[in-house]
Amino acid sequence: MVMHFLLLLLFAGSLVAADEEPFIGVNIGTDLSDMPHPTQTVALLKAQQIRHIRLYNADQGMLTALSKSGIQVAISVPNEELLAIGQSNSTALNWVSRNVLAYYPSTNITSICVGSEVLTTLPNAAKLLINALKYIHSALVASKLDSKIKVSTPLPSTIILDSFPPSQAFFNTSMNQVLIPMLDFLQSTQSYLMLNIYPYFDYMESNGFIPLDYALFKPLPPNKESIDSNTLLHYSNVFDAVVDAAYFAMSYLNYTNIPVIVTETGWPSKGSSNEPDATLDNANTYNSNLIKHVLNKTGTPKNPGIAVSTYIYELYNEDTKPGALSEKNWGLFDSNGVPVYVLQLTGSGAVLANDTNGETYCVAKDGADPKMLQAGIDWACGPGKVDCSPLLQGQPCYDPDNVVAHANYAFDAYYHQMGKSTKACDFNDMATISTSNPSK
Ligand SMILES: *[C@@H]1O[C@H](CO)[C@@H](O)[C@H](O)[C@H]1NC(C)=O
Ligand SMILES: *[C@@H]1O[C@H](CO)[C@@H](O)[C@H](O)[C@H]1NC(C)=O
Ligand SMILES: *[C@@H]1O[C@H](CO)[C@@H](O)[C@H](O)[C@H]1NC(C)=O
Ligand SMILES: *[C@@H]1O[C@H](CO)[C@@H](O)[C@H](O)[C@H]1NC(C)=O
Ligand SMILES: *[C@@H]1O[C@H](CO)[C@@H](O)[C@H](O)[C@H]1NC(C)=O
Ligand SMILES: *[C@@H]1O[C@H](CO)[C@@H](O)[C@H](O)[C@H]1NC(C)=O
Repeated sequence: MVMHFLLLLLFAGSLVAADEEPFIGVNIGTDLSDMPHPTQTVALLKAQQIRHIRLYNADQGMLTALSKSGIQVAISVPNEELLAIGQSNSTALNWVSRNVLAYYPSTNITSICVGSEVLTTLPNAAKLLINALKYIHSALVASKLDSKIKVSTPLPSTIILDSFPPSQAFFNTSMNQVLIPMLDFLQSTQSYLMLNIYPYFDYMESNGFIPLDYALFKPLPPNKESIDSNTLLHYSNVFDAVVDAAYFAMSYLNYTNIPVIVTETGWPSKGSSNEPDATLDNANTYNSNLIKHVLNKTGTPKNPGIAVSTYIYELYNEDTKPGALSEKNWGLFDSNGVPVYVLQLTGSGAVLANDTNGETYCVAKDGADPKMLQAGIDWACGPGKVDCSPLLQGQPCYDPDNVVAHANYAFDAYYHQMGKSTKACDFNDMATISTSNPSK
């Protein structure tokens, strides 16, 4: 066992420099009907102490606004531009000159994502993807920026098959013709494997096989943890299991020193009736636990202590995204920069500072049962000792005369009376903390 541990440490040393600090970044999608101006977005990033972002393009407005912000930026070659770049090194050179050299170093571009989930969304472009990676990298070499800016391509975790137990995971073999030259490229350029991980979809598609708590990083009783019978490693969350599956899938092809960076992960805060687990609570739990987990330098069971830096999907709710209701609700903020929920980050350091003047309110949860809300009001106005006289007919808080508005009043009054303790905003799970004032 001691031997085993030593080997792990040695292996760990070869994977990433020991002083590598993990970071939490945020993806910025732009499918919003009222997309904030780049200067507003950058102001939000600064206020929230978000130091790492990923853009899905190389937007001129954003790259200009990010100048001298100290924020580290991953930019992207959109899939639409991949074909041209993969066919011509001069187009690649041109792209780098227009989208990197024009802004660097005052805008701190630290990586280029070449395409997005190309192997699954544009399988015919897979061959060109390798050329595109190489051409973009060569253009950086020509400008002596290859040691400062990494080049890679975000992969969906669905190309890893048999991902539990992680030790048996392997990449879809029909993609080996692309994956092997890609891994060669990542290894020889000291880049990282970019992986999109969605425990939400893994959970939804598992038909009850994956417990919700396991997807949400909630503590599990030891007998509920998943154990990899080959390695005897214990897995307490889906995220770690998928990251380790990627490490094992790479080592199965004899690549053992390419670090993993998670380019997308998150949880939707709202969905339609057939998406019952897309809730504020679950989104808050997932992202809060994720941030704590990543920044705690826990690493994964296979590579403890090895940084798995992660970009949360995503900064804004994207109201014009097509598809299910949940698709529009992955954001941490609305387009006004108001948090969709207040992350619970006690003790995890300075990222996502949940500002908005620190003002918070206790409000009725969306869709809460009116009978339960009434019971909560009765409790707050009775044993809870809230002065509910303003709710009486003819008094200032009587209108609107509905149970949600009255619950918002009574719950918030109780919450403030109790010094805004999180515990005071529960009401049989009918209440939640919000940063927007319900009486406005
Ligand atoms: C582009 O490719 C051509 C043909 O392979 C080569 O001659 C040329 O030097 C390359 N240009 C750059 C900028 O890498
Ligand atoms: C960009 O970020 C890197 C990585 O943290 C840092 O070492 C470098 O000093 C930054 N460059 C600029 C120009 O701010
Ligand atoms: C593996 O990839 C091929 C396409 O390259 C796809 O048709 C097939 O469905 C994938 N297999 C699995 C099990 O996902
Ligand atoms: C990995 O390396 C081992 C030992 O050198 C070799 O037997 C095996 O064929 C290699 N696998 C691949 C996929 O290259
Ligand atoms: C942080 O890491 C320590 C040990 O490295 C561990 O005991 C603790 O449970 C971790 N906390 C979280 C929130 O993961
Ligand atoms: C979040 O906001 C609360 C209330 O203002 C504050 O006490 C807490 O420190 C903030 N968290 C972080 C990580 O800044």
